[in-house]
Amino acid sequence: MDASLRHLLSELEEAGRRNDEQEQDRSRKMLNLDPETAHLLSMLLRSSQRTRLLEIGTSNGYSTIWLAWATHMVGGHVISIDRDEHKQALAGANLRQAGLRDVVELIHGDATQVVATLAGPFDGVFFDADRLSAPSQLALLLPKLTADAFLFADNVLSHPQEIAGYLSAVEALPQFDHLVIPIGKGLSIAYRQKD
Ligand SMILES: C[S@@+](CC[C@H](N)C(=O)[O-])C[C@H]1O[C@@H](n2cnc3c(N)ncnc32)[C@H](O)[C@@H]1O
Repeated sequence: MDASLRHLLSELEEAGRRNDEQEQDRSRKMLNLDPETAHLLSMLLRSSQRTRLLEIGTSNGYSTIWLAWATHMVGGHVISIDRDEHKQALAGANLRQAGLRDVVELIHGDATQVVATLAGPFDGVFFDADRLSAPSQLALLLPKLTADAFLFADNVLSHPQEIAGYLSAVEALPQFDHLVIPIGKGLSIAYRQKD
């Protein structure tokens, strides 16, 4: 990653932290991934050469930049969904500044409704929206995954009750290997290898 992109990410990290400390209204918080979690996610996506990524929960595009950067080198693409138009507009501007706007399709709307309309296939999905609706989105996405697929979800340690339904659903998937990494707010990683 070049120095200017690293610098932009650092600025977003700082701005997100400051905004979230001051903002009382949760819907106005950026709630960005912890930098180490974003870095790990990006490394896994890059090393496994993912090209068809779906992100659920764009916010201002902080994690989207990490995803887009990881996949753009292999000609990949990201779809990212958020129901907050204002935050997605910020994401568009931040992705443009990162030089990655063309790599990402931003879709505005309720994640479950949008996911139902997507054709896929996806070889990597990152769940980072409201957690309670993640099991429904997972069920809709299962037929739209490639044989070799990664599933990620944040907030396992910070919101254990809210994410419990998603974790049970993932653990019940017979072909997926699943583990939780205690990094940042707790990252769930599930992987299915092609036979
Ligand atoms: C934790 S933030 C995403 C942070 C972002 N992935 C990052 O690391 O920079 C969650 C986002 O999900 C969006 N969201 C929550 N529930 C949603 C839903 N049901 N459908 C669409 N977007 C949703 C919120 O508007 C918010 O911007």
